[in-house]
Amino acid sequence: MAAIAYVNGRYLPLRAASVNIEDRGFQFGDGIYEVLYVHNHHLADADLHLARLTRSLGEIGLRQPLAPAALRVIIREVLRRNRVSTGLVYMQITRGTARRDHPFPTIPVRPSLVITARPRPAPPADIASWAAAAITLPDERWARCDIKSTNLLPNVLARQQARLAGAYEAILYDSEGLITEGAASNVWIVDAAGTLRTRPLGPSILPGCTRAAVLELLRNADIPFAQTPFTLEALRTAREIFLTSATSFVKPITRLNGVSLGNGHPGPVATLLLEHYLQHLRAP
Ligand code: PDD
Repeated sequence: MAAIAYVNGRYLPLRAASVNIEDRGFQFGDGIYEVLYVHNHHLADADLHLARLTRSLGEIGLRQPLAPAALRVIIREVLRRNRVSTGLVYMQITRGTARRDHPFPTIPVRPSLVITARPRPAPPADIASWAAAAITLPDERWARCDIKSTNLLPNVLARQQARLAGAYEAILYDSEGLITEGAASNVWIVDAAGTLRTRPLGPSILPGCTRAAVLELLRNADIPFAQTPFTLEALRTAREIFLTSATSFVKPITRLNGVSLGNGHPGPVATLLLEHYLQHLRAP
């Protein structure tokens, strides 16, 4: 069965689906995107993703082409047509097609909307096989990383460096040596003193929907945590490191820059939170 994409009002076979070469997403990265996980027909943290989409669009002055409720209907249809019950949904909205010129088009153009879906298995219950390696790199991105922009060149380059180093993620640090986030995930540690920490929200990180869901799980389980910045040194000496994202869920990092962390096994906090998150996916 050929994969189907939604492109500006039409459902098309993926190989026939295309956008104009003067689409501003293609020309400038002038667009916003979201990635959602669907587990057994249930869209994980959908309210959070759709609210973040609305916010990101607002921050770049891009009109929301469809109300969140209408987007949900199209997402459902893309999932149905692709027979995806568990997998990933990708959604991208750009400022549309216009003659190449940096400022926004003066004549209003219709934003482009593309939605695709592909199957992806649920994360394994066996956490050891889910653990991964990371490297650290300077954060070379712009000053508004809270906007989920399609302009991902520094993230792409960082992830490529991670891949070349045999690692899954690049964990980024700012000019003050403070960890911001991963190239495509939020970062958490259990520091040397045993405190669970993640950087507070602000312009240098994406407000992760999985991060928000995990914070809620922590509150419900009465597990203490601190939203405080932490240094590269705190990362290196952490008892546990883990990532959160729609594609990583809760992912323990057991090797950092080629060095095993602790005993090289996922720690108890990441293990517990992955269990809680999988439970949340199954019974939201
Ligand atoms: N990335 N930080 C960055 C820079 C990200 O790109 C992502 C997600 C996150 C985690 O956000 P969430 O929990 O809402 O997925 C944090 C997606 C998965 C991607 O670009 O593929």
